[in-house]
Amino acid sequence: MKLSEKLAKAFDKQINAEMWSSNLYLSMALYFQKEGMDGFAHWMKKQAEEEMEHAHKMIDYAIDRGADVNIAQIDAVPTTWENPIAAFENVYNHECKVSAMIDDMMNIAEADKDHATRDFLFWFVREQVEEESTAKKILDDLNRYGECHIAIVDHELGKR
Ligand code: FEO
Repeated sequence: MKLSEKLAKAFDKQINAEMWSSNLYLSMALYFQKEGMDGFAHWMKKQAEEEMEHAHKMIDYAIDRGADVNIAQIDAVPTTWENPIAAFENVYNHECKVSAMIDDMMNIAEADKDHATRDFLFWFVREQVEEESTAKKILDDLNRYGECHIAIVDHELGKR
């Protein structure tokens, strides 16, 4: 059974959002690199790769379901942040927004009674719990330890 028109559009939108997320994190990686925080930069590059994998996972599924996937223009991403805390606040807030977008897709799939898509999207629902929690933990660590312990967090993130 082919994806409904509404779901196909939702997939296009989400694929664009995942690619935008990938660019956001790549931009953060470059910011951290410029600031000499290689551990943070490494973590962000991995995150950027993961977001591109999310986009491809969605592309493959939508094509399997007979949708005509359209890759639209990707908006520009920010290029600088005030400090690591501001960057991770951005990450956490962005991931909460992505979670809400996935929930919106799930609502459309439920209205369509498209059980295959619901099943597919549950992976993303679980992934978002992890993404939010990871970003929150790093943000909490940064707030707790402050600027003077930034090198410790940088070292930890470099292990990803
Ligand atoms: Fe693909 Fe971080 O959401």
